[in-house]
Amino acid sequence: SRNLIQPEDFTVEEIDEVLSLGQRIMKNPEKYIHVCDGKLLATLFYEPSTRTRLSFESAMNRLGGRVVGFSDPKASSTSKGETLQDTMRTVSNYVDIIAMRHPVAGAAAEAVEACSVPFINAGDGGNQHPTQTLTDLLTIKTLKGNLSGHTVGLCGDLKYGRTVHSLVKAMSRYPDTKFVFIAPDELKMPDSVKEAIKGHEFVETNDLESAIPDLDILYMTRVQRERFDDIEEYERLKDTYILNKEKLTDAKEDMLILHPLPRVNEISTDVDDDKRAVYFEQAKFGMYVRMALIMKLLGIKDPE
Ligand code: CP
Repeated sequence: SRNLIQPEDFTVEEIDEVLSLGQRIMKNPEKYIHVCDGKLLATLFYEPSTRTRLSFESAMNRLGGRVVGFSDPKASSTSKGETLQDTMRTVSNYVDIIAMRHPVAGAAAEAVEACSVPFINAGDGGNQHPTQTLTDLLTIKTLKGNLSGHTVGLCGDLKYGRTVHSLVKAMSRYPDTKFVFIAPDELKMPDSVKEAIKGHEFVETNDLESAIPDLDILYMTRVQRERFDDIEEYERLKDTYILNKEKLTDAKEDMLILHPLPRVNEISTDVDDDKRAVYFEQAKFGMYVRMALIMKLLGIKDPE
């Protein structure tokens, strides 16, 4: 069966198919209310989530399917010592498709080996978050009109932020994308990601304000407290960047401000009513793109 562990598991054409289907669903959701009748999705969340889990569950319900799962692994037999792969083997026998989030980087690749139904990585530690990337791409494609030729600034915790790892790899496949990595020295983009986009133009800086005027997209991220061993280091770094109205003075009129959410302090609420601030709309797109992804992985054709 087809799975989604990282964005590169899909060709650019396949990603385009999912995004186009997501746009069609968004325009005409009532056409899709029965396409997953009789199908069952498991959401197995070993780590907290609001958007990813609830948008997956809303997506499946809106397609006519049903959902089972857990959001607290302590209430599953994991707490009795069951291995991740045994859990996947078991749940594969109950459902048609699985979405899993896990705090350990690499857990998705381990889990999928034991799955006999389509498997979706809903975020594995600081590694990858491919459905957030589909969400981000749908947002950019819909609001900018295309995915090529953008200068994309990624700001904040680029070391532990799985959303930026996946997004950079995915955006590097579109022509004339330029990246500006904005992070303190302690939270720079990992070498493995830079290696993966070799040949693509990127610059690194720790100065958000001087980077802003060149950007078509500013992707803000939260400093990922849950990934720090040293909580004092987190406390020292957590407010490195706080985007506010004033810092947007020299930004392009049509720059998009994205954030995978949740936010803590990194975007001041005074930015929320700026027309460039689209992060809540972005979270809405996440449900439609997950509807499209579920259909693709289940091999369900567009009824159009
Ligand atoms: N963006 C995102 O993954 O949000 P949640 O952690 O709330 O799912």
